[in-house]
Amino acid sequence: MRRFRFGGSDGADEGHEAGEAATGSPAQEGTADGASAQGRGSDPGQAESGSGSSAGAEASRPESREQPESREQPESREQPESREQTESREQSETREQPVSAQGSRVSVVDEQPPRPAPPAGASEEEYRWHTYRVYPSGRPDAVEFIDTYKAFGRNRILRGLNMGLPEGMVSMILGPSGTGKSVCIKHMVGLLYPDEGDILVHGESVPNMPDDDLFEMRKKFGLLFQDGALFGSMNLYDNVAFPLRQHTEKGENEIEDIVMRRLNEVGLGQSKEKYPNELSGGMRKRAGFARALVLEPDIVLFDEPDSGLDPVRTALLGELILEIHRDMMDEAKAKQKTHLPTFAVITHDIMSARRVADYINVLWKGRIVEAGPAEDMLNSENPFIRQFLTGESQGPLTMD
Ligand SMILES: Nc1ncnc2c1ncn2[C@@H]1O[C@H](COP(=O)(O)OP(=O)(O)O)[C@@H](O)[C@H]1O
Ligand SMILES: [Mg+2]
Repeated sequence: MRRFRFGGSDGADEGHEAGEAATGSPAQEGTADGASAQGRGSDPGQAESGSGSSAGAEASRPESREQPESREQPESREQPESREQTESREQSETREQPVSAQGSRVSVVDEQPPRPAPPAGASEEEYRWHTYRVYPSGRPDAVEFIDTYKAFGRNRILRGLNMGLPEGMVSMILGPSGTGKSVCIKHMVGLLYPDEGDILVHGESVPNMPDDDLFEMRKKFGLLFQDGALFGSMNLYDNVAFPLRQHTEKGENEIEDIVMRRLNEVGLGQSKEKYPNELSGGMRKRAGFARALVLEPDIVLFDEPDSGLDPVRTALLGELILEIHRDMMDEAKAKQKTHLPTFAVITHDIMSARRVADYINVLWKGRIVEAGPAEDMLNSENPFIRQFLTGESQGPLTMD
């Protein structure tokens, strides 16, 4: 099942899906991308209504959206159709066929694209800025949330979340504190389970994984927590070597090569004997970064890497993240790895997001307001997104 992409043309989505299935590589055509990027704000006349594509839209439409009054009335259906009616219906059906078969975007019926209903108990007003628009990345998603709901008691956190982290990109999950960003991470690695919905990692459902598979799947991830989460009783070297000793059969010589390479990469080669309490906050984060990479993860998650850092160190850490991502991309291509490295940086700091993001997901009220490549998002016409990404005080977003 695909996550619901609001505003995307069906044609573009189909192309994406087909490309993923066939080659695992980007397959979207420029034209389809462009069309899809128009999203909901585009000419409603572009809405497709060919029988094939509208079936797709129908399938992804949340049930609660169904408006019985707009459906055919049962009474009217019982009345025998006149010959004229039958013919005109058949004609329109046969006329639509070649149109959709050619992938043409000619509109036959003026139909608005479906808009997901707000979650149960919430008003349309609360979700008025959620256009759910997803500007295409042209890549398959390494991680995908599909209609995910999660509540802690009465505290409803994820409320029908549809979110993707495209492969080979540095993504941001941006949202105010307490919106559920860390909760998302825990769902990706199977530390929390959704009440409803699904989370896919490289196409596999995490909540449905048997424990053994989950244990294996977690090796795909490198996690960097806020404070580096180092063991206080171990020096840096042993901290970074820990996952290798725990999860691999590698000998100490090989471990030393890997550990020193990673420590040097983050500028801590000289500090390998130091203990965490002898290091600055920035150094602890870098050490955590080195440790997150030793198992060569496909997906690296950074939970608020900028918290507690001054702006200069935040900028340097951002650069380091980009540098290491570039190196890992080169390595993945050279080794022809199945998956390109995917980074997800979780933050409420807009400036660091703007600096490093290839792709931005804006999370609010348990759903993505809009998502897409950074340049599309920075040019978004949605007043909420504009305000959020520029950090302006004027706009729809208020303190409450
Ligand atoms: N294990 C848990 N049990 C109960 N409530 C939780 C749990 N984890 C997170 N929460 C609540 O979920 C909300 C979102 O938390 P979190 O994901 O940490 O926010 P943030 O976006 O700042 O990372 C908070 O209100 C938090 O108190
Ligand atoms: Mg958090």
